[in-house]
Formats: sequence, structure tokens, C-alpha cells
Amino acid sequence: MIRYAIVGCGHIAKKHASAIDNAENSVLTAVCDTVPERMEEYIQKYGVKGYTDLDEMLQDGEIDVVNICTPSGFHADLTVKAANAKKHIVVEKPIALTLEDANKMIQVCAENNVKLAVVHPNRFRPAMLELKQMMDKGMFGKLSHANATVRWNRDQAYYDQAPWRGTKAFDGGVLMNQAIHNLDLLVWLMGDVNQAFSMDATRLRNIEAEDVSTGVVKFENGALGVVEAATTIYPKNFEESLSIFGEKGTIKVGGTTANFIEHIMFEDLEENAKQAMIEKIKNDPFGKPGHQWIIEDMSKAIEENREPIVTGEDGKRALELVVALNKSAETNLPINFPVQG
Ligand SMILES: NC(=O)c1ccc[n+]([C@@H]2O[C@H](COP(=O)([O-])OP(=O)(O)OC[C@H]3O[C@@H](n4cnc5c(N)ncnc54)[C@H](O)[C@@H]3O)[C@@H](O)[C@H]2O)c1
Repeated sequence: MIRYAIVGCGHIAKKHASAIDNAENSVLTAVCDTVPERMEEYIQKYGVKGYTDLDEMLQDGEIDVVNICTPSGFHADLTVKAANAKKHIVVEKPIALTLEDANKMIQVCAENNVKLAVVHPNRFRPAMLELKQMMDKGMFGKLSHANATVRWNRDQAYYDQAPWRGTKAFDGGVLMNQAIHNLDLLVWLMGDVNQAFSMDATRLRNIEAEDVSTGVVKFENGALGVVEAATTIYPKNFEESLSIFGEKGTIKVGGTTANFIEHIMFEDLEENAKQAMIEKIKNDPFGKPGHQWIIEDMSKAIEENREPIVTGEDGKRALELVVALNKSAETNLPINFPVQG
């Protein structure tokens, strides 16, 4: 059994705990939070050890992997500590808030010969797995452009529930915190980015970071991309979607969380196969939880001594697009890749 410990027992930790519980060959052995009450339900439910100090937990010989589920601004420091203690790492998205931190995390994990996986669970949604296969088979032909849209609602109460939310140093804003899932899908499917330009604003929430962002992207392959992300949508989540347009194919995966095929047309996809795909996804739009995919993959990666499916470099790629868009909005200039600083 691969033994896991969770650091940061807030909202997302619940998904990690149940994913570890349900994953093959994986077991939760400890949790850590600076606020002791936050650990109680895990200690009770899973019969695990609780630590208020990460350094103390890292002395525990019964831990193989540490899952970092703290506010994003702490990901880098905690990853460095855990990797230096020879623990493999599963870190929540975004990998970090700066490219410098992401590079440090990747380097420290490599130096200690431990694995680093970043939680981008939306890649494992049934519609996205199909879309990736279609992209890899070249079914779009020459790519024209893509559109990544996140029209969600996070009200003021959401931002007020914890001091880190909405800050630049720990949360990062709508691109970094909410849209990074969709931006990860965008670069995973469309390939490396060449240039990005963006405008953003803080319109409706009383926060430091942006609550609405609009941007354009040019990919290395020459295709273009449009990014729209907001937490200001009245009165509730309205849409998360990804559309891709090529000379031989068009697809829009949408709904409120990009799970449903809303439109699909491919020159090389027979009507029967298309209907079967639509039906399959309609019957199981969410599939196996993405967090469980990540945990099962990490356990297998350790056993087989290979890289995880979603690596630190993958996490950095999504982060780099966010950093570029933020930087462009700040400077009012297009940003070239690779992004400096
Ligand atoms: N993958 C997803 O779908 C998804 C969804 C939500 C959040 N997240 C990510 O998960 C992370 C946490 O978000 P959340 O909503 O669970 O936050 P949260 O505020 O609900 O929980 C964070 C917890 O970390 C604890 N903590 C803070 N500093 C700590 C430290 N140094 N050591 C130990 N514990 C510490 C806090 O006490 C708190 O219990 C963020 O990076 C966020 O971006 C990912």
C-alpha cells in the first residue's frame, strides 16, 4: 500500500481523503493542519494520526506521499520541505503562484528523486478524454482557434470566508484560482503558447486580485485562442466551456463545468460513432472523480517508477499562461513565451 498524508484540511482535502480511500493500493495515514479542529473529522472518519506541525509529520516513517491542500501561496514552501524529507508530492492547483516557485518545486523534487503530480482533475472528465484522443489522432486537421470560457459566480461571502481568498499573494485571482483548470485543458489540447495579451478588472467583488479577465493567445502552431474568465456572473455559475475549431472538426464541451458535449461535427467521425459518444458522455458526464485518477496514478507511478500523468512541468505550463495573462494586463503589453520571472 502507498501511504498518503494530507496537509491542509479545508474544502478540497475532503476530495483527497475520499479519493485516497477509494483508490487502489492507497491508504491515508496522517493529516496536518495548523488549526487542530480542522483535522478532527479526518482523524475520526479514517482513524489517522493528526499533526499541527508539518516538520513533525515529516518525521513519520509511515508516509510515502504528501498531498498539499493548503492555500496556493503555501504550495511551494511546503512542497520543498516535504520533498527534502523524501516524500512524493501531490500538489493542488495552481502548482504555485510564481514561475520561480514552480521551478524550485520541480528542481527540489528531481534532486530528491521524488515524484511531483499536480491536481488538474478536469483532464479526466469523459468528454475531455475523448477530445484529447480526437486531437491526438489529428481529427481537427489544421487548427483555427479555441475558446476557453469560465463564467462563474463567487459571491463576496465566498471571498470573505478565509483571509487568503481574493489576495494576490495566496489566491491569485480568477485566472489563477478558477480558470486555471480550463487553461490547463487549453494548453494540453492546443499545445504550447507563443504570445498572450489580456485586460482584466476587479469589477464586482471587494478583493485585491481580478474578478474578470479577457485575453487572447497565439499558439506555437499558429492557431489563436480566446480566454474569458469571471467570478462575477449573476446570480450563479452559468458556464464553463472549451470550444475548438479546426479545418475538419468543431467541438464545444460545455455546461456549467465543461462536462457535456454541446456541439460536435467531424469530417472523419461517422454519425453512429458520434451518437454513441454523445450518449456515453450524457450517461456518465463526470466519470471517475479526477482526484481519484490522480491518486491511483501516483500510487502506480511509484510502484512502476515512472512519471505521474500530470507532472510538475504540466502544472507549470498552465501557470505560465496565467502569469503571462496577468503580466499583460498589468503592463498593457503582449507577453512572449517563455515567460520571464
Ligand atoms: N482541484 C480543485 O478542484 C480545487 C478546488 C478547490 C480548491 N483547490 C485548491 O486547494 C487549495 C486549498 O483550497 P481550499 O478551498 O481547500 O482552502 P481552505 O481555506 O478551505 O483550506 C485550507 C486549509 O489549509 C490549512 N493551512 C493553511 N496553512 C497551513 C500550513 N502551513 N500547514 C498546514 N495547514 C495549513 C488551513 O488551516 C485550512 O484548513 C488551494 O490551492 C486551491 O486552489 C483545488
